[in-house]
Amino acid sequence: MHVLAEKAVRLRIDAVDVYYGAVQALFGVSISVHGGEVVAVLGGNASGKSTTLKSVLGLVHPTRGEIHLDGQRIDRLSTPDIIDRGVGSVPEGRRVFPRMSVRENLLLGAYPRRHDPKHVADDLEQVFKVFPRLKERSQQAAGTLSGGEQQMLVLGRAWLRRPSLLCIDEPSMGLSPRFVDQVYEVLAGWKAAGLTILIVEQNARLALELADRAYVLQHGHVIREGTAAELAADESIQRAYLGESEVA
Ligand SMILES: Nc1ncnc2c1ncn2[C@@H]1O[C@H](COP(=O)(O)OP(=O)(O)OP(=O)(O)O)[C@@H](O)[C@H]1O
Ligand SMILES: [Mg+2]
Repeated sequence: MHVLAEKAVRLRIDAVDVYYGAVQALFGVSISVHGGEVVAVLGGNASGKSTTLKSVLGLVHPTRGEIHLDGQRIDRLSTPDIIDRGVGSVPEGRRVFPRMSVRENLLLGAYPRRHDPKHVADDLEQVFKVFPRLKERSQQAAGTLSGGEQQMLVLGRAWLRRPSLLCIDEPSMGLSPRFVDQVYEVLAGWKAAGLTILIVEQNARLALELADRAYVLQHGHVIREGTAAELAADESIQRAYLGESEVA
């Protein structure tokens, strides 16, 4: 833990409650992410994982608690303001613009950097290097890509914005094992390059291989937190989330 203490806290979610109308989705959730860390939020269906990411991105606003990014309070800000502060998002459900080409979809990610075409072109080449399939299909309408390819596209698009903190919601959802491995290899590469990542996953085994630390949500409460190694070795986590029984 002393290593973490040396790294600045980038994101601090502090005792956050979130409601959808009368339904409370998060109960006093506290999560922190240090610079260069990968933090995973684990949990079964409807445990509040996506809501946690949405609260960071300003898509929902907590009724209690606070969220700070780099020491500044962000939980009252709009989503565009939060994104302007360097937060990137790969939301659930891979939203691409289906009629636009793969290349055009990717370049949308770099839109805020459009006055720096040289670096954008270099970064686009980087994305094509990491995802050669996107290069092969760069002129194709994005709607014709397979689900796995669309996941690569939204990851590439988010990266092209050059975020300093990337929020990712269930990148493995619905993908075949080969695509899942490829996506996680790319994420491991970004981690090695120093990108700070907050990732939500039902697939705890995968997420714990990538993450430095993790939190487990159940019914909107954080019920466990620890290093990825601690949680991977924990028997109750293994039973509930590592494939030995179904999660309630
Ligand atoms: N827009 C909404 N309106 C009303 N209730 C919502 C809304 N979005 C989420 N909820 C409720 O909040 C709770 C948490 O949902 P959330 O999407 O955060 O779960 P999750 O952990 O991401 O689940 P999953 O693994 O299925 O994606 C659920 O009970 C859900 O029904
Ligand atoms: Mg979700």
